[in-house]
Amino acid sequence: MRKLLAEKVFKPGSFPEYTYISRVSPEINVNYETRLKQALKISGFLTSIVGPSKMGKTVLCEKVIDLKDLVEIQGGDFSSSNDFWKVLAQKVGISVEGEYSETHSNSNGKLTKKLSETQRYITSKDRVIDYFKENELVLVLDDFHYAPENAQVYIAQQLKDAIRREFKAIIVSLPHRADDAIRKNADLSGRLSLINIEPWNEEELKQIAIKGFKKLEVEISDEVALNIAKESLTSPQLMQYICLSLSTILDLDNECTRRIVDFSKLEESYKFTTLNFEYKDVIKTLKEGPNTRGKGRRLYKIKTGESIDVYGLIVKAIAENPPIMGLSLDEIKKRIDDLIISSIDKLDKRKIKDALIQLQSIVNEKEAIYQVFEWKDNILYILDPLFLFYLRWGSH
Ligand SMILES: Nc1ncnc2c1ncn2[C@@H]1O[C@H](COP(=O)(O)OP(=O)(O)OP(=O)(O)O)[C@@H](O)[C@H]1O
Ligand SMILES: [Mg+2]
Repeated sequence: MRKLLAEKVFKPGSFPEYTYISRVSPEINVNYETRLKQALKISGFLTSIVGPSKMGKTVLCEKVIDLKDLVEIQGGDFSSSNDFWKVLAQKVGISVEGEYSETHSNSNGKLTKKLSETQRYITSKDRVIDYFKENELVLVLDDFHYAPENAQVYIAQQLKDAIRREFKAIIVSLPHRADDAIRKNADLSGRLSLINIEPWNEEELKQIAIKGFKKLEVEISDEVALNIAKESLTSPQLMQYICLSLSTILDLDNECTRRIVDFSKLEESYKFTTLNFEYKDVIKTLKEGPNTRGKGRRLYKIKTGESIDVYGLIVKAIAENPPIMGLSLDEIKKRIDDLIISSIDKLDKRKIKDALIQLQSIVNEKEAIYQVFEWKDNILYILDPLFLFYLRWGSH
């Protein structure tokens, strides 16, 4: 039998058949799959899955629902003028417009009248709901936050009515963004099953490496798996990526390779993994800070010999060991103090805090890729694990 290839085992971009890890949702000690299965059983309820980007929302739906029963639609497929039901009809391949004319054209032998918008709409809605029920299909409305705001509200209204008629649907979205149209919709309250997907902890991430390398018949110690898990920063996708990079660097698809993963190639694999990410401009923008209008900023000499300003220091401090997704002001200050050579040259907290507020307002003005952190209640929350990973290992 032919050996499994690493690319089949570690799948950063799609469903990980060989490295799927089942997790327990912390609130009630039941795994996410069971919760989703249970939610789908309750007729008349809409399921809302909310969780940060790349934490396994889509993969969870794909695990629980048979591929043949799953109808996946992206939030971005809707524009405000689109008919929700028409998009669904098209997706499952049923015609909705011809139907009405057929039944009505023969009744008096005359040509069919052109359908009014409302008639056409009601027909497609009924047809789609019936079709879903007959075939036991489940609608997964993925990345709902990408639907325009007015479309979100409209879709919520449509679903409210449909779920009463036992139409099964799951809405997937990011926290704080688009869940308002669903979770804060008074019409839907009491008719929702809520599932919050939490970031991954190190123990859970470790399992991806352990399971996958075992499948590839490669030895890996707990310590090595833990090191990768720490660098993966709560992201299963990053974990899958790094394991795949390691497999490439160790040439594991070659049968003659020594089948062990130790510490020796980890750094190289981390660097190799960053080649797929593009945060150069984001980091440059952060290091530059606000426009000084020609005035120079105070520079501090650091241990590497460079002289950098407060913005450069903050960026460097974030990248230091250990990688942490939520850094307190005290921790940032301590890291900056450790970076600077002279003891009289230290920065006070006020100055660091002001600079962080400035950085927040700079990124707020920019595109989505720049929204990599949030400064709130004296804590710097890293929102995008890939950014921190790139900051630590990428060349910038
Ligand atoms: N349960 C799991 N076990 C192992 N790996 C997983 C699991 N869930 C997710 N992953 C890994 O993370 C990747 C991203 O998962 P997924 O696409 O489901 O995230 P998402 O939350 O839907 O992201 P987005 O918000 O961008 O839609 C997967 O391709 C897979 O590599
Ligand atoms: Mg998804």
